[in-house]
Amino acid sequence: MDKIIIHGRHALAGTVKISGSKNSALPILAATLLTEDPCVIQRVPDLSDVHYMLQILTHLGADVERASGIVTVQAEKVNSIAPYEIVRKMRASVCVLGPLLGREREATVSLPGGCVIGDRPIDLHLRGFEALGAAVRVHGGNVKILAPSLRGATVSLKGKFGTTVLGTDNVMMAAVLAEGVTIIEDAACEPEVVDLANFLNKMGAKIQGAGTPRIVIEGVKELHGAEHEVIPDRIEAGTFLVAGAIAGRQVTLTRVRADHLTAVTDALGSCGYQVAGGNGTLAIHPNGAPKSLDLKTQPYPGFPTDMQAQMCALLATAKGESSVTECIFPQRFMHVSELKRMGAAIELDGATARIHGVENLSGAPVMASDLRASAALVLAGLIAEGTTEINRVYHIDRGYEMLDEKLAGLGAQIERVKV
Ligand code: EPZ
Repeated sequence: MDKIIIHGRHALAGTVKISGSKNSALPILAATLLTEDPCVIQRVPDLSDVHYMLQILTHLGADVERASGIVTVQAEKVNSIAPYEIVRKMRASVCVLGPLLGREREATVSLPGGCVIGDRPIDLHLRGFEALGAAVRVHGGNVKILAPSLRGATVSLKGKFGTTVLGTDNVMMAAVLAEGVTIIEDAACEPEVVDLANFLNKMGAKIQGAGTPRIVIEGVKELHGAEHEVIPDRIEAGTFLVAGAIAGRQVTLTRVRADHLTAVTDALGSCGYQVAGGNGTLAIHPNGAPKSLDLKTQPYPGFPTDMQAQMCALLATAKGESSVTECIFPQRFMHVSELKRMGAAIELDGATARIHGVENLSGAPVMASDLRASAALVLAGLIAEGTTEINRVYHIDRGYEMLDEKLAGLGAQIERVKV
């Protein structure tokens, strides 16, 4: 078990290259189950979540090869059962349901368990599969889906907290091999959904409207192999922009899609930071302590929930009072108590964090609880006086490729130690 140690108050400067997107790579790797042919996926980040997905594909019968960011998968034959031992490690495993249903007309996958960021049911995924004619049975901790035939249908994926990203991916992956036309209404518009649809279309699928709330899928008989490069990780990019804001002289990101980050760069602009770029780069220029801000998380293109914790770390030393309202996962505030251990003045009021800006944070031993909360603690450690020790950094390795090395490359006094 590693921990990360940060000696705060060392300015960051320089250039950092953004990795491929975790939340795009995971469903795209699952989609390779839809064909017997080999698929080659480039720019796959080296993360433990990706490792779990490759374990699941191997368990389902696929041949998997991996070499420095390129993954080749060939699922000539597949079995359709994904067991608890593997699925429990990663919720996103649920996105093998759609490809298995599409290809094998059946799937049995362990139901994902609890999650520290809040309640995460899959009822909308199941609603989509039932609309395509599948029978769904939940028993013994497993969800079993069976569909002698799959027929195109119109289905809305609107839920209590809006739409669902992996639900849209899953229904899309089941519908590409269904008979007839499927229309997904209230679909998620995230760039990762578009990236998956682009990959599926390269495999021979007929998908239109990805990136809009209405996706039309004309079913085809079969799909073939394809090559695809995963989009840059907009959440990793957003995290480095906040690092540049919180502790930077000037930080430049390369291999980034600025158009995927508008809500984040707008928020940083409102805090007084200048963010500029294009053609695969983005640079943030420091401007002292941030101005306060009122922020609400929303489905894309709104402000991403996966950047909420990082913004709390930034606003902890803002001038005045800020509010951060979490509209997607209302309980997603595990980072707050740890930031308060570092001297932040934050009150939780239901799904809103009220942040009273303080002059300084101070280094402390803190505990990571989930992926984005851990990133927030790293960011706070960069500007805190003294030393911050972050425990349970395996959470960080789930979604950030070489975070500590990349920050060290920008001048941070950061090290990873084994305990
Ligand atoms: C994806 O999770 C991301 N994960 C999450 O990123 C991200 O936070 C989330 O989308 C929202 O942007 C991956 O892409 C692997 P949802 P997903 O289904 O698809 C409710 C990270 O840090 N809901 O869009 O599982 C749900 O409870 C991770 O990288 C239902 O009610 O999220 C939530 O309140 C964390 N019923 C809301 O919808 C359902 O069937 C949005 O969840 C499905 C979801």
